[in-house]
Amino acid sequence: MMNNFFITSFVLVACFCVVWTRASVVSTGDFNRDFFVTWSPNHVKTSADGRNRSLILDKDSGSGFASNDMFLFGQFDMQIKLVPGNSAGTVVAFYLTSNQPNRDEIDFEFLGNVAGQPYILQTNVYANGFDGREQRIRLWFDPTKDFHTYSVLWNLHQIVFMVDWVPIRTYRNHADKGVAYPRWQPMGLQMSIWNGDSWATSGGKVKTDWAQGPFVASFRNHKIDACIWKGNPRFCRAQSPTNWWNKDSFSSLNWAQRRLFRWVRKYYLIYDYCQDNKRFNNSLPKECLLTKY
Ligand SMILES: *[C@@H]1O[C@H](CO)[C@@H](O)[C@H](O)[C@H]1NC(C)=O
Ligand SMILES: *[C@@H]1O[C@H](CO)[C@@H](O)[C@H](O)[C@H]1NC(C)=O
Repeated sequence: MMNNFFITSFVLVACFCVVWTRASVVSTGDFNRDFFVTWSPNHVKTSADGRNRSLILDKDSGSGFASNDMFLFGQFDMQIKLVPGNSAGTVVAFYLTSNQPNRDEIDFEFLGNVAGQPYILQTNVYANGFDGREQRIRLWFDPTKDFHTYSVLWNLHQIVFMVDWVPIRTYRNHADKGVAYPRWQPMGLQMSIWNGDSWATSGGKVKTDWAQGPFVASFRNHKIDACIWKGNPRFCRAQSPTNWWNKDSFSSLNWAQRRLFRWVRKYYLIYDYCQDNKRFNNSLPKECLLTKY
């Protein structure tokens, strides 16, 4: 009796949790079902089960794919294994974009490097067409050896860039103080690999060595837990109060996240536009003077 009671409640709770955590996940895990190829299908290779996809860059072309849907708020996770060996000049991108003239965009850009030198992770935020918000870090692991999880949490309150759940950057909604914040335009998820050797490595001094190619980056275990924008500008905003990503506990970094965030900034930060007084003639953009969490 006792045993049965425990087993039954355990099963009930377990089922409830599964249903609850999955309720808002809108991706299937199958690249063929959740995405379409945007660039050079013959440079895109997908495993037979659809769960692992590789993008190839060679001297003929780069490649890319994008989500079938557009979203307004949610969390977007992707496991990525970057180009091993000499990847100098190459750029692998994982980003959300509204694809409009006044675009909103949330970018992860992985800048390749010569063998033995670390990959650099550049992030950027475009709000209402304005960008110029670059941040660059080194990673605390070799991102070419294994898959690691790169995530964007995007809600009404903040954007959080995460690497293996470590928050490496935030961009808070300070719209009430006149700072542009992506909150109206739906965005789609895009992945690509391309030749960025005019700027990506040592400011463009190191060129892509095509003899080292083809350059391959692999993707797997994507999870999109977001509101699908169904062409109705009000739909996702009306849903907002009920979506987990807008709840209070996700409106700013918690204590443990703040510690990790400060750790990354202390030891791994290479560049932050908010510290670039020279570039902004000592008048940094407004958001730089406001809270980060
Ligand atoms: C899948 O992942 C592995 C890494 O574990 C990679 O080497 C392989 O090329 C990937 N791509 C495909 C299409 O299977
Ligand atoms: C900074 O000042 C220089 C020279 O006065 C000017 O050319 C440049 O556009 C200014 N930059 C910004 C970001 O205001």
